[in-house]
Amino acid sequence: MYQNSLEFARRCDTNDPLTEFRNKFHIPKDANGNELVYLCGNSLGLQPKTTAKYIRNELDDWAKLGVEGHTEAEHPWLPYHEFLTKKMAEIVGAKPSEVVVMNTLTTNLHLMMVSFYQPTAKKYKIVVESDAFPSDKYAVESQLRFHGFDPKDGLVQWKPREGEILCRFDDLEQIMTEQGEEIALLMIGSTNYYTGQSFPLKKITELGHKFDCMVGFDLAHGAGNIDPELHESGADFAVWCSYKYLNSGPGSLGGCFVHERHARNPNLKRFTGWWGHNKQTRFNMRHEFDPLPGAEGWQLSNPPILSMAAIRASLDVFAEAGFNNIRKKSVKLTGFLEFLIDELHDDRIRIITPRNPEERGCQLSIQVKNANKKLHERLTDAGVISDWREPDVIRVAPAPLYNSYEDVFHFAERLKKILN
Ligand SMILES: Cc1ncc(COP(=O)(O)O)c(C=O)c1O
Repeated sequence: MYQNSLEFARRCDTNDPLTEFRNKFHIPKDANGNELVYLCGNSLGLQPKTTAKYIRNELDDWAKLGVEGHTEAEHPWLPYHEFLTKKMAEIVGAKPSEVVVMNTLTTNLHLMMVSFYQPTAKKYKIVVESDAFPSDKYAVESQLRFHGFDPKDGLVQWKPREGEILCRFDDLEQIMTEQGEEIALLMIGSTNYYTGQSFPLKKITELGHKFDCMVGFDLAHGAGNIDPELHESGADFAVWCSYKYLNSGPGSLGGCFVHERHARNPNLKRFTGWWGHNKQTRFNMRHEFDPLPGAEGWQLSNPPILSMAAIRASLDVFAEAGFNNIRKKSVKLTGFLEFLIDELHDDRIRIITPRNPEERGCQLSIQVKNANKKLHERLTDAGVISDWREPDVIRVAPAPLYNSYEDVFHFAERLKKILN
C-alpha cells in the first residue's frame, strides 16, 4: 500500500485528517531557516504554539492578582491540577479519579513503590524488563536496599533469549513459575525506551496478580504514544512523564495512575503531604491526615502552575485531535517509515523494534552494523534530529501530531545517502 516516492508522501500528507496539526507546533529550523526533520519526540516533544499564551495568562494573573490568583485567576491555582485530569485520563485510558498530574516520573515511581512495594522476608523480589531505563533500575535497586535486600538477589531481570533482542512473554511466565512466591512487584516499562517494544499490559498484570504480586508500569514512552488502557489492564499503578509525546516542555511534570481498587484502601502505606489531604479541611492546618480518595491522595505539594499551564496547552491539542485519530495516524506513519527502511535493502541495517504495530508505538530503533556516533552526527548535519543509543542504534520516532509523511521520506533519503 505504500510507495517509495516523495509524491506518495505528499499525497498522504494531503489526505491526512491531522495534517493541519503540524502548524500548531513550532518546528525547529536550521541556520538557513529550513525546517529540520525532527524525529525526536521520544526524547523531547515539540512546543505547541499555544503554550506561550497559556503560560503568559498565568504570569499575567500572578502579576495582577498576587496571592488572590489561587482563587481568582481565570483558572484558579488551587484546583489547577484538576483542569488536566480528565484529558490526561483519556489519553492513558483511565478513570479521572485514577489519574493525577504531579511531581516528575522518578519521584512518582518512588511514591508508588512506597505504597505498592511492601516486601516480606519471603516475598521481596522485583522484576524489571532487561534494559529498563537506568533511572527506573536505580529507583528499584534503592527501594530494595531501603528495605534491607541486596539488589543482586532481589532484582530479577526479564531478559531476551541469547542472540535475541526483544523480551518474550513466555519467559516472564517462566520467571513467575519459578520465583513467583518470592516476587512482590513487577515493574515494567510499558514501551521499552531502547527497543521500542510495547508489552501487553493486561496480560502482564494478570500474570502478576495470579502470583499475588503488585504490578506497575512506566509509561514514559507509552503516554501519548500507545493506547495503554490502564484501567482495563488492571495494573495497580503507573507513572509517566509529559515532556516526550505529551509535548509539555523540558522537565515538565509527570502523571500517576492508581487503580480505583486502591482508591480508599486505608491499609496502604504512603508518603504524604498537604496536597493529598481532604480539600475541605486542607487549610484548617490542624487535622490529622485525611487522604483524598483516588490518585489525588498521593499528592505532596502545591504544584507549579507554569508547568501545568504548558501541560494544559498540550492536552487541549490532544483533545482537539482525538487520541484515537492520533494513534491511527501513528500506525500508518511508522508503517511508512518501516517500509522505506526496508526499501533501502541494506543488510547493515536491522529494525530491532517489533514488526507488529500492536507491539510498538511510533518509535523504530534501527541497528546499524559497525556504526558509531558519527553516523548520528552526519544525520544531524543533514538536518535530521534523531537520537543515538550506544553501541549502534538510531532511534527515530515520527510523532503523528506534528510529523509528516514527507519528514519520514526525507529521513530515509538522507540515511540512504549517508550510508552510501
Ligand atoms: C523510561 C524512562 N523512565 C524514566 C525516565 C526518567 O524520567 P524523569 O527524569 O522525569 O524522572 C525517563 C526519562 O527519559 C524514561 O525515558
